[in-house]
Amino acid sequence: MPDRLTKIRSRLEAHNQAHVLSWADELNADQLQQLLDQIEQIDFEALDELIDQHIHHPDGSDLPSELEPAPYFPEDMPEDEMARYRAEGGQLLRDGKVAAFTVAGGQGTRLGWNGPKGTYPATPVTGKPLFRIFAEQILASQHKYGVTIPWYIMTSPINDADTRAFFLDNNCFGLDRKNIFMFPQGVMPSLDAETGRILLSAKHEIAMNPDGHGGSIKALRESGAIEDMAARGIEHISYFQVDNPLAKVIDPLFLGLHATAAESSGEMSSKMVAKAYPEEKVGVFCRSEGKTIVVEYSDLPEDLAQQTTDEGKLRFIAGNIAIHLFGVSFVERLTADRHHFGLPYHRALKKVAHIDPETGEQVEPDQPNAVKLETFVFDALPLAKQSLVLETSRVEEFAPIKNATGVDSAASSHEIQTERHARWLAACGLDVPRDDEGKVLARIEISPLTALMPQDLQNVDLPTAIEPNAEMAF
Ligand code: UD1
Repeated sequence: MPDRLTKIRSRLEAHNQAHVLSWADELNADQLQQLLDQIEQIDFEALDELIDQHIHHPDGSDLPSELEPAPYFPEDMPEDEMARYRAEGGQLLRDGKVAAFTVAGGQGTRLGWNGPKGTYPATPVTGKPLFRIFAEQILASQHKYGVTIPWYIMTSPINDADTRAFFLDNNCFGLDRKNIFMFPQGVMPSLDAETGRILLSAKHEIAMNPDGHGGSIKALRESGAIEDMAARGIEHISYFQVDNPLAKVIDPLFLGLHATAAESSGEMSSKMVAKAYPEEKVGVFCRSEGKTIVVEYSDLPEDLAQQTTDEGKLRFIAGNIAIHLFGVSFVERLTADRHHFGLPYHRALKKVAHIDPETGEQVEPDQPNAVKLETFVFDALPLAKQSLVLETSRVEEFAPIKNATGVDSAASSHEIQTERHARWLAACGLDVPRDDEGKVLARIEISPLTALMPQDLQNVDLPTAIEPNAEMAF
């Protein structure tokens, strides 16, 4: 141990991080071992560069000079084209070539939920947790296409054990455990925003943060998930974030486009919704040097965000809802040299509780004090040879739960979920009560096990009307 400690200490000194061992003398053997193990996981040469770039010389975003709106397949494509692509996607599903993939490693601090975000009660009537909604979609799709749809879930070291326990407690929501594959994503040390020094969450522990959903590509490889997919004959991965209860886990139209359209290389495709207003906090699909990219909302210059077309629509309108399809071979290609693959890091200024390196006291900051370095999955888009974007309806597919109140909260999500299901019921001839502004005067929830799409309701016993203020779950 003394040898190991000496070596690690001099390595830390060479990188101006010697404070990490300030309390080494006070630690018991297990604690010291834990700390040294953590330190050995860090690539200090790479970290030095990142600290220089993101803390000592942060120069904002490096936005490309040539930025055009990305072209997209509109929601109202001709019906015969849609039918053709749906048929192609349906065949891929029946052939067992599609897996579901949820990124669920985020910390959910904004939501104020003390547990993995996927355990959050998300539906408007029964309060079904996010994970159950996706599981029910997978069960219903397996039944519909007569096939097994394996489900890959990226957790983080912080919520992995709790996520696994939740699945076991809920009997995997009726799915076969053998077809659920969970793996934790990578982590990065959280850094003091002024000095770049690594923060300690305890005297024997470095404060680590998940490395962003961009870490999913590397984690798919390092966890063995990609090999598992290849062994199962999976060719396409349906990627979505855990925070969106309306995400369509399986969508034959999107699959057919991604896998067979001339505009796609079958490597990485995306869905978008039209931005509701210029300041909406969604990334925007753009085109730069012939490639599709996402410019994050915080990086899109105000004048571009406000620009409108001759018809008065936003020019940069294609909002990123973080739903993608990946070709398995694309992930294999990107990670072939797994040690050298990595998406660029972005800095996020956050509040991180830590131990004061001088006094050893616990600090609970009331202002952002730390830089977390994270990668974004959409930075993989320009690495694809050709990448397409499909427009979808906000009411059908985007009602994220990110904040405790207001925009993108459970309350706003419940309204959108109710609206979607009210439209489905109205399409079956039901009277749905609405107020003067058109808002549904009821709470309505339709389980994916009952219907994955409005047409599935045709075989369901439905009432003729919804009473005002009713709470109905089908
Ligand atoms: C994200 C997108 C934004 C998009 C919006 C749509 C980024 C940077 N921006 O914004 O372009 O319009 O969603 O809802 O992503 N996650 C992990 N591991 C991590 C970090 C996040 O699994 O290390 C997962 C979270 O569990 C969550 C999702 O990724 O489900 C979104 O992350 P978040 O940081 O909340 O992104 P947003 O700022 O909401």
